[in-house]
Parts: sequence; structure tokens; C-alpha cells
Amino acid sequence: MTQDELKTLVGQAALSYVVPGQIVGVGTGSTVNKFIDALVTMKDQIPGAVSSSVASTERLQALGIRVFEANEVGELAVYIDGADEIDAGGHMVKGGGAALTREKIVAAQSKSFVCIADESKLVQVLGAFPLPVEVIPMASARLQRQFAALGGQALVRMKDGVPLVTDNGQYILDVTGLKIGDALAFESQVNQWPGVVTVGVFAHQKASVCLLGTASGVRTLNF
Ligand code: 5RP
Repeated sequence: MTQDELKTLVGQAALSYVVPGQIVGVGTGSTVNKFIDALVTMKDQIPGAVSSSVASTERLQALGIRVFEANEVGELAVYIDGADEIDAGGHMVKGGGAALTREKIVAAQSKSFVCIADESKLVQVLGAFPLPVEVIPMASARLQRQFAALGGQALVRMKDGVPLVTDNGQYILDVTGLKIGDALAFESQVNQWPGVVTVGVFAHQKASVCLLGTASGVRTLNF
């Protein structure tokens, strides 16, 4: 099976976690796009969704699924999103699509986090994928030095020759060279650095379940 087919498989499998009658939290990325496409078959059974990005909002609305603002609704039963890396404890690296801040907000608003990913995302130690960190632009150079002191190399993410600007008007640093053994401690530490908006380690908001697409089908990991 191709990676695209594995993404379709887990996107469809995630439908069984959507609670009829309840608003669902929706993440961002190519795997979530498969979930959104599958969700259209349930659109008459749910009031709608809370979305984590402009891109997902546009895709949901184009399919006729109502999108609510996070502030309009209370706690959500379930949030469904992809990951760039996930470890055996359900801790993740996210933000490859630059949507990490809103993703963490909607995840925090949800009782359970269902991660959907192909099997290439399962790792022993987080950190091989460049860690996305959303930062206030005026702090980016100092934060690059702080990551260097941890042994990392932080680069401002670029698009068309200029820094990429997130949905929230901020920059992304992509940090290589880190091995994140204690994900909870690392997330807490970096969150305290002035100018950090969101670090792409999801340990405090870890996955409750991971639906992993493999050649032999969907493997379910419960955390
Ligand atoms: C976006 C994310 C995505 O969930 C992550 O990058 C995985 O994306 P994909 O499903 O395209 O591999 O965190 O900010």
C-alpha cells in the first residue's frame, strides 16, 4: 500500500471515534484531509466541527460541514489529528503544517485525542523530524541561540524566499539535532522561554489513541 492509501485507511477508520450528535475537533494536514473527506458521510449526524487551521476550515466548509469557533462551544468529546512523530507513550511532534498552536488549543479543549498516522511516524525517540516551534518574530534570533545551547540548530521556516507567517501572524522555527527523551519536561521547559508561542511537542496534550496505518491494516495503540 502507498503512503497515501495508508492515510486514507486511517482517515476512514477515525470515523468510528466521531460521536453522533457532538461537535468534533479537526486537525490539519494530508492525513486529516482524508478524514475530512470521509467525515462528509456523517455530516448529517453531527452539528459540525471546530477546526485547527484556515486550510481545514476551508476544506470542511467546501464539503458542507459547519465550522464553529472554539469560543462558541464547550468541551469536545474527541479531537482527530495527524502527527509528524509519535512515540510508544503517545507523545508527539506536530507542526509540520505550521498549525501547531491552534492544534494544541483544540486538543486541550477535547476529552480525547485520536492520532491518525501511517506507520512511518512511529519512532522510539522524538526529534529526528525537525521540531516546529511557533515564535514571536522579534524573539526568533534569541530563541535560535537558546536552542543552540541545547545542541539544536533552529532555522526560521521560509516560504517563497521570506519567513513563513502562520495563521496567527507568527514565525516557525524548525529545530534539528535534538533527542527528546523526556517529552513532558522538554515541553514544559521550552514553553517558559519568552517569545515561544507553542512548542510542537505534544506531551501534555498527548494522544489517547493512535490509529496507525500499516501494510496489514489499521493497528490501534491505546495510551
Ligand atoms: C500540522 C500537523 C500535522 O498533523 C502533521 O504535520 C502531519 O501531517 P501529515 O498528515 O500531512 O503527515 O501537525 O501542523
